[in-house]
Amino acid sequence: MRLNARQIEYVEPTHRPALRAVEVVMSEHEPVLAPELVSLLAPEPGQTAVDCTFGGGGHARQVAELIGPAGTLIGIDRDPAAKERFNRFAAEVPCRTLFISSDFAAGLRALQGEGIRPDMVYVDLGMSSMQVDARERGFSYSYDAPLDMRMDTRQEFTAANLVNEWPEARIAKVLRRFGEERHAGGIAREIVRRRPLATTGELVEAIKAGMPASARFGAGHPAKRSFQAIRIAVNGELEALAEALPLAWQQLKLGGRFAAISFHSLEDRPVKQFLAEKARGCVCPPELPVCVCGHEPEAELLTRRAISPSPEEAESNPRSRSAHLRAARKIAEAQPVGETG
Ligand SMILES: C[S@@+](CC[C@H](N)C(=O)[O-])C[C@H]1O[C@@H](n2cnc3c(N)ncnc32)[C@H](O)[C@@H]1O
Repeated sequence: MRLNARQIEYVEPTHRPALRAVEVVMSEHEPVLAPELVSLLAPEPGQTAVDCTFGGGGHARQVAELIGPAGTLIGIDRDPAAKERFNRFAAEVPCRTLFISSDFAAGLRALQGEGIRPDMVYVDLGMSSMQVDARERGFSYSYDAPLDMRMDTRQEFTAANLVNEWPEARIAKVLRRFGEERHAGGIAREIVRRRPLATTGELVEAIKAGMPASARFGAGHPAKRSFQAIRIAVNGELEALAEALPLAWQQLKLGGRFAAISFHSLEDRPVKQFLAEKARGCVCPPELPVCVCGHEPEAELLTRRAISPSPEEAESNPRSRSAHLRAARKIAEAQPVGETG
């Protein structure tokens, strides 16, 4: 996908923020694992950072302060509402800024086309609290709203299309795969039986009716897993992540750092596997007594195990509870095929 000029915007640094303005922006979305992320990225003056999921700019603000006036902060977000927040942010931080209003995989490809090699790239996956709190966007099972759930409101496909047009078996597969919902079959059947569904309230009722009574009163809201699953499918979240990981890694400068915060195992697993693969040295079959491949690791893992929020953060910001942070440093460029050993 080629991005047009309206989707990419450079802003020169202007002045440092008035404290009040910073407080207002920070209160919009409390960044998760922020000190941990910043410490792993270790931003230095003059560096270039790519925040693939700008959201409310909570992480970006901390990074921007550290890279300072000689640094460049590139923000990407597929939600058009993030652009206005970015414009405010750009006027307040000391560094040069650039915003790309697109999916992060497309944004990373655009940066690659420009030959930009960042010192750090990071993602903070999932929805922002602003998206959940914007009732009319239909992300929350707590408010009755149109069935939407699009992060990028320029996209045509919505949750209404999914629940009203997809075959029952495909809906069940989505609920099972992306929501790990045990009652996927019953819920999909009930959704199809009640079509057309127009609102999140109607969807919640269908979900409840599609599960046994005992399951409706378990831990958490009965629609939580199904909403997560439908949102992931509407936004193609796992495909975007799978596409972005190698792009982000390729673009990093040697010595650059990559970090990812994920909120469920479907996101954490591909990040973990990707980084483990990059950190792997010898790829010889295990039955060979000595290494003949000469393959060198490209990554040094900065987190052997994923970092979780402290009990204090989990208490003060419930959204952080399921967060997992992983990071790695690029220690070698990929070896061209056939040039190992
Ligand atoms: C959890 S929030 C990020 C919050 C941000 N780190 C902060 O401190 O405010 C996730 C953001 O990423 C965006 N997003 C999610 N998936 C995306 C994708 N594939 N491409 C671009 N943006 C994405 C969402 O629109 C949302 O604004």
